[in-house]
Amino acid sequence: MPMDKNNDFRFLKACRGEPVDRTPVWFMRQAGRYMKAYRDLKEKYTFLELCKNPELATEVTLQPLDVLGVDAAIIFADILLPLEPMGTGLEFIAGDGPSIPRPVRTHQEMAALKPVDVDGQLGFVGDAIRMVRSEISGKIPLVGFAAAPFTLCSYMVEGGKSRDFTLTKVMMYEEPETWQGLMDKVVRVLADYMKMQVAAGAQALQVFDSWVGCLGPADYEKYILPYTRRLFKELETTGVPVINFSTGTSTMLPLVRQAGGDVMSFDWRIDLDDAWRQIGHQTPVQGNLDPNLLFASLPVIRERVHDVMRRAAGRPGHIFNLGHGILQHTPVDHVKAVVDMVHEYQHE
Ligand code: CP3
Repeated sequence: MPMDKNNDFRFLKACRGEPVDRTPVWFMRQAGRYMKAYRDLKEKYTFLELCKNPELATEVTLQPLDVLGVDAAIIFADILLPLEPMGTGLEFIAGDGPSIPRPVRTHQEMAALKPVDVDGQLGFVGDAIRMVRSEISGKIPLVGFAAAPFTLCSYMVEGGKSRDFTLTKVMMYEEPETWQGLMDKVVRVLADYMKMQVAAGAQALQVFDSWVGCLGPADYEKYILPYTRRLFKELETTGVPVINFSTGTSTMLPLVRQAGGDVMSFDWRIDLDDAWRQIGHQTPVQGNLDPNLLFASLPVIRERVHDVMRRAAGRPGHIFNLGHGILQHTPVDHVKAVVDMVHEYQHE
């Protein structure tokens, strides 16, 4: 087989559980409002304009790379983009986050959701991926992403962000056929959408189940696992590593592991060594620093970064990351400092 330099990145090696020279590190939301270059662009364009214009999405994707020295890029987009072609509408309201004008709450509304032509209707994400790859190929790998079924459905049903997820849970408990129909449709779109991203050049995928931790293990097993499992199974055909990301799931990690994916991501509600032991050391892992820690002083950050590194114990298959995305007012120099602390760390 010809040697492909693009397969040799420490991030991709760690995703495959192979030994690396230094622990790879990257961040969710590494592009965004905590960076001045992003805020400057936001003076001229809305968030959705940035996502839908491949030149601008490329520019934003590249913004953090040299500044931080991270080991992976993540395409600038949003997990909610598939909602527009499905027919619910999608708006971002300044200061208040996403809003879905036509939420899905009845069987009829579920049945009216449209199938998505991902190449035609979400092709701008593929175009951005191709453009980013042509800029960074051979230097740093590019991660594509989408939501996991529960997290996307929760926005569709609630109509925006939620604290309690009451409408979503009531549909799940009371309207099993509507829930099943909704999850089936969403899995189809998400699988096609991520396959399109890999065809365009994404070298790894991350599936964001940001809010599934609002469920207990029995509900996860019954209402979520059959669908996440089907999604991860379909993604196996892409041949790229897939990261299974969730938050709030430390009481049910072995169950979430059963959904599939090549790398498991942990938040900060569990110690890395405990989490890794629970799912088995043969599975590569990512996480798990609290994003709030980046507001602390550098000595405190260093102590906690080193604590995560000690718990990883130099095992192959460790990717350093936060447990969730970078927060809005995070000091950029602290993010950069974390990258250097990880790269400079020497295991005893
Ligand atoms: O990681 C990256 O750098 C890639 C870009 C990325 C964005 N959103 C850009 C974005 C990624 C990976 C996402 C995923 C995403 N989007 C998730 C999963 C990750 C997570 O945090 O759990 C979720 C839940 C969303 C939905 C979403 N998009 C919300 C809740 C919001 C509002 C958040 C807020 O703080 O206002 C968005 C908007 C959004 N997505 C922004 C960015 C940079 C902010 C938009 C702005 O500039 O105002």
